[in-house]
Amino acid sequence: MIDGKKVLFSGMQATGTLTLGNYLGALKNWVTLSEEYECFYSVVDLHSITVRQDPAELRKRARRLLTLYIAAGLDKKKNCIYYQSHVSGHAELSWILNCFTYMGELNRMTQFKDKSSKHADNINAGLFTYPVLMAADILLYQADVVPVGKDQLQHLEITRDIAGRFNAIYGDVFTIPEPYIGKTGAKIMSLQDPTKKMSKSDENPNDSILLMDDKDTIIRKFKRAVTDSEAKVCYRDEQPGIKNLIDIYSTCTGKTPAETEAEFDGKGYGDFKLAVGEAVASVLTPIQEEVARLEKDKAYIDSIIKENADKANYYATKTLRKVQKKVGFPERVR
Ligand code: TYM
Repeated sequence: MIDGKKVLFSGMQATGTLTLGNYLGALKNWVTLSEEYECFYSVVDLHSITVRQDPAELRKRARRLLTLYIAAGLDKKKNCIYYQSHVSGHAELSWILNCFTYMGELNRMTQFKDKSSKHADNINAGLFTYPVLMAADILLYQADVVPVGKDQLQHLEITRDIAGRFNAIYGDVFTIPEPYIGKTGAKIMSLQDPTKKMSKSDENPNDSILLMDDKDTIIRKFKRAVTDSEAKVCYRDEQPGIKNLIDIYSTCTGKTPAETEAEFDGKGYGDFKLAVGEAVASVLTPIQEEVARLEKDKAYIDSIIKENADKANYYATKTLRKVQKKVGFPERVR
C-alpha cells in the first residue's frame, strides 16, 4: 500500500517494435487501471540485453517506449514511468532472489525454451535467470497487481512462488502479487498464422500490426489476414483467424465478442476485416500523433525521466533495505 492505495507494477521490453498485441494485451489495461492503483510502469531495459542489442538503437527504442507510455494516456503525475536501469535495486534484489530460486523451476519456463531455440548461439545465464529479475521488478514495489498478457502468466506464477518461499523463511516481507488479465485481447495472435502469438520478433511483416503502422498499412494487413471458408463471423476455436479478429475488434471498440458476432451477422469477411482495420486505426492514430508531439518536447520527457527515477528509487530502496536486513547483511553505518 502507498498512501492507502494498492500498488500496480508492469513493464515492457524496448526490444523490437511494439505490436498491437502489446497494446491490447497490456498497455491499454495499464491506462484503465491507472486511476485505481499507485502505479509503477517500467521500460525494462535490463531484460533487453539478454538478447544482443545495438547500444544506440536500444537507447533510442527505450526512449520511444517511455514516450509511448505517456502518449497512450498514462498520466506522468499519477504514475511512475521510469527506466529499470535507473534503479539499481532491481539488479540487487534479483541477485538475492536468485539464491531462493531453483534451477528446476527455471528449466520449466517456456519463454526460456523458446528464446534459447531462437538464439542458439547466445544462451546466456541472463536469459535463464530472466524470470528472477522479473520477480525482483514486481516484489521491489510490493505490487498487489500486475497487468500482463497471457504469455507472462508463467512468470507471474514463479514470482508468487519465490515470494512465498522467502516469506515462509523470513516472515511477511513481500506482498504476493496477482496477475491482471483482460477479458479480451490477452493473447492476440499472428494475422498470418492464428495459432501463433503476435510478436515483436515476427519475421513476416504481415504477421503483426506495429503500433506505429499508418492507417493504410493497418487496413492492408487486415485485408490479407488469414481466415477460413466458413463465411461466418463466429467466435469459436474452430475458426482461429476470425476468433482473433473478433478479439481485436472487441478490445478496440469495448464490445463483447457476442455483440461483435451480432453486428456482423450475415456480413462477409471483406466487410468485417475492413471494420477491424478501421477500429484499430482509430485507436492507434491518436497515440501516434501524441508520440510525434511529445518527441519534440525533449525537456518535458527529460523531467519525467529524472523525477520518476527518484520516486522509483525511493520505494525500491525501502524494500531492498528490509530484505538485506532479513537475510543478514550488516547494517549501514551513517
Ligand atoms: P514483453 O515486452 O514481451 O511484452 C509486454 C506486454 O505485452 C504483452 N503481450 C501480449 N499481449 C497480448 N497478445 C500478444 N500477442 C502479446 N504480446 C505481448 C505481454 O504479456 C506483456 O504484458 N517479461 C516481460 C516484461 C517484464 C514485466 C516485468 C512485465 C519485465 N518485468 C514485470 C510485468 C511485470 C516481457 O518480456 O513483456
